[in-house]
Amino acid sequence: MKDLSPNKANLDPIEIASIDEIRATQLERLKWSLRHAYDNVLMYKQRFDEAGVHPDDLQQLSDLAKFPFTHKNDLRDNYPFGLFAVPRSEIIRLHASSGTTGKPTVVGYTKNDIDNWADLGARSLRASGLRKGDMVHNAYGYGLFTGGLGAHYGIERLGATVVPMSGGQTEKQVNLINDFRPDGIMVTPSYMLNILEQFHKAGLDPRESSLKVGVFGAEPWTDAMRAEVEAAFDMHAVDIYGLSEIMGPGVANECVETKDGPVIWEDHFLPEIIDPVTSEVLPDGEIGELVFTTLTKEGLPMIRYRTRDLTCLLPGTARSMRRMAKITGRSDDMMILRGVNVFPSQIEEQVMATGGLAPYYQIELYKSGRMDAMRVFVESSPDSTDELSKTAAARMLTKRIKDVVGVSTEIVVGDPGDVERSQGKAKRVVDNRDKE
Ligand code: DLL
Repeated sequence: MKDLSPNKANLDPIEIASIDEIRATQLERLKWSLRHAYDNVLMYKQRFDEAGVHPDDLQQLSDLAKFPFTHKNDLRDNYPFGLFAVPRSEIIRLHASSGTTGKPTVVGYTKNDIDNWADLGARSLRASGLRKGDMVHNAYGYGLFTGGLGAHYGIERLGATVVPMSGGQTEKQVNLINDFRPDGIMVTPSYMLNILEQFHKAGLDPRESSLKVGVFGAEPWTDAMRAEVEAAFDMHAVDIYGLSEIMGPGVANECVETKDGPVIWEDHFLPEIIDPVTSEVLPDGEIGELVFTTLTKEGLPMIRYRTRDLTCLLPGTARSMRRMAKITGRSDDMMILRGVNVFPSQIEEQVMATGGLAPYYQIELYKSGRMDAMRVFVESSPDSTDELSKTAAARMLTKRIKDVVGVSTEIVVGDPGDVERSQGKAKRVVDNRDKE
């Protein structure tokens, strides 16, 4: 793999500023953001008043703990534009996430918001090892999802050439990568596996592709998956994190020189980790729910937004700003089997570590009597499709999951192509608990 470490002289000065300077910037911006939300969004005024707090009560960053949380439901309850802090005419872009239930959550950006987002997108790509003059194949979906356009603006802002491919049409994706020879690709990690498969189908060697780095996010993925993709393509795989409510892709991004968890762009977003049950703020290093407060957003300021993503905050390494550990999962994705908490990412690690299996999996939850039970669908790798190999792989995976994760599972090993392929964000869990 090529050394893609960026030249420090090209970084934004704040990325390598002193902690004191970063905290001072945050404090100043946080005061503005609380005031902006309170003065312009009825919900925040009511919530702050009810809690007996006022923006003037914030003297230091830790005072933020006195302020109330914001939840995803607050966006739904104020659908579509009720949380906007500027007149609708000042909003130049809308995005929305479909969600599985109820109304979509709608987010809006002013011209300055889009400008900051493009800057942070460019910063994220630079951290990933890309630079001006490179070409980036963008396979995040364009449209209401923030992935496609968010990445697109970042690529342009960096001064790179964007290939606005969007998701789907896997055969065409591979043809374009082969013909245009991009340096980087932006895509969900699960869809990258789909692209990998298409390389093989087309008789192309992925290790011979032009790709030097993949910037993967929008869904949880493990270091085991990183190793798989890096080896398959002989390229770097780095993690990009974001969520629509806070901005979109580029809230945090991993540095290619360290690959030790996404750096949170703390000059724009203030992170906290809380205990998801008691809501108490936890110290850095402890795992809990990630909470963000936006520091510069005009259109849709978010105060203490509960992401439901589980991680911990880590000290800066390649940059001064803090990192987040790779996301273990969302609190919504946690499965409880006979009292043991299980995340799809734990299953992923074991699938990747088991010989004779391809890197595709889907988990089914079902009822076994009154208990919840789990079945994992995997498939044999193309060179291990005989029954003997499949049985051996199933036995090995069952044992690994039992030993490492601590739960009993049924494993179904299918043939290559049997597991549903991701077209964007993979559906890792199918819940059939009410069907049996
Ligand atoms: O997925 C934004 C995005 C697009 C990020 C492209 C990165 C790349 P939403 O659709 O609102 O926005 O989903 C946000 O996806 O709360 C996490 O649960 C999950 N997620 C996003 N990035 C990562 C990541 C986009 N790198 C939700 N690792 C978040 C794990 C991620 N989970």
